[in-house]
Amino acid sequence: MGERVTISVIKADVGGLVGHHVVHPALEETAEGVLEEVVDELIYDYFVTHVGDDLVLIMTHGKGEDNSEIHGLAWKAFQKAAKVAKELGLYGAGQDLLSEAFSGNVKGLGPGVAEMSITERPSEPVIVFAADKTEAGAWNLPLFKMFADPFNTAGLIIDPSMHQGFRFEVWDLVEHKKVELSCPEEMYDLLALIGSPGRFAIKRVYPKQGSPIDPNEPVAVASTERLYEIAGRYVGKDDPVLVVRAQHGLPAVGEVLEAFAFPHLVAGWMRGSHWGPLMPVPLEYAAPTRFDGPPRVIGLGFQIKDGRLIGPEDMFADPAFDYAREMANKVADYMRRHGPFEPHRVSYHDLEYTSMPAVLEKLKDRFRPLE
Ligand code: F6R
Ligand code: MG
Ligand code: MG
Repeated sequence: MGERVTISVIKADVGGLVGHHVVHPALEETAEGVLEEVVDELIYDYFVTHVGDDLVLIMTHGKGEDNSEIHGLAWKAFQKAAKVAKELGLYGAGQDLLSEAFSGNVKGLGPGVAEMSITERPSEPVIVFAADKTEAGAWNLPLFKMFADPFNTAGLIIDPSMHQGFRFEVWDLVEHKKVELSCPEEMYDLLALIGSPGRFAIKRVYPKQGSPIDPNEPVAVASTERLYEIAGRYVGKDDPVLVVRAQHGLPAVGEVLEAFAFPHLVAGWMRGSHWGPLMPVPLEYAAPTRFDGPPRVIGLGFQIKDGRLIGPEDMFADPAFDYAREMANKVADYMRRHGPFEPHRVSYHDLEYTSMPAVLEKLKDRFRPLE
């Protein structure tokens, strides 16, 4: 093709079947109906999926990022699905559609967005990840492993076209600033920031000079929307999505997936207020149950050809990830035994944005000075 293709992954929780458990198939069918109508007109191709209670729209098109027609299409799909969710009495119907009015872009209205425009290679392997019951910073550790850790990605050592490393665009989610850090030279600075995933999140990864990929084109992009900031109150965790290109001068598919073989602790889980392991699961198990969790991630692999999505492959439907799931279950059990105690429950500082103000308000007249 040689033309630029944009991959837009836009997700929202518009209602859950039995609490915040899973997306009802009728919502996926409704969204598919909306996207199907505009194939070969507005979009090249689409795939609709879910992780837990999050409806995920994967679209390819030639309109570029932040395009009002594409965002309008996603908004329409979510609104129609939310209407069905209301009819079925699904839980939290329309939860993430925080505004009545669409103004050209879904950012700031509730949905999460990860978009990248790429020059399609003759063979373009892409993996779309989606996580439920966690936040954007949950991608920090796996993205670091994929693109900067030679113990994860052998290609950083072995493949001369990856040897120079990658650049990371990191967003400060509180002060709304961004900084670019280059690895391996600035690895320790990068880790200083992204080791605090509630504050700093990797937004994009870029190649460097010497890569077969244009250094201006991202090779990974994550959603970084924060619901409580948009709504001004707690309405659920942000449940992020991530798009990663692979192979031929980039981490191999297996190096991308390897980053999830360790079920690291992420913030989210019950009431968005508990640390728990991120369990890599096939679609079949993309439905959190225990204590509304534990948090989980799916990975769908596609080859993109002339803008079409060939696939998907359900990348975690492999017994090779059984051990990660087993470890996640053990860690989940260990963390659960702490009940309301930190570090299972997120820090006091994090609860300041959610439930703590109400508790403190109730007790405020009963506090006495220390003697
Ligand atoms: C976490 C999540 C759930 C809910 C919990 C309470 O992201 O979605 O754990 O926070 O089920 O939900 P409400 O307050 O809607 O009853
Ligand atoms: Mg929900
Ligand atoms: Mg969710």
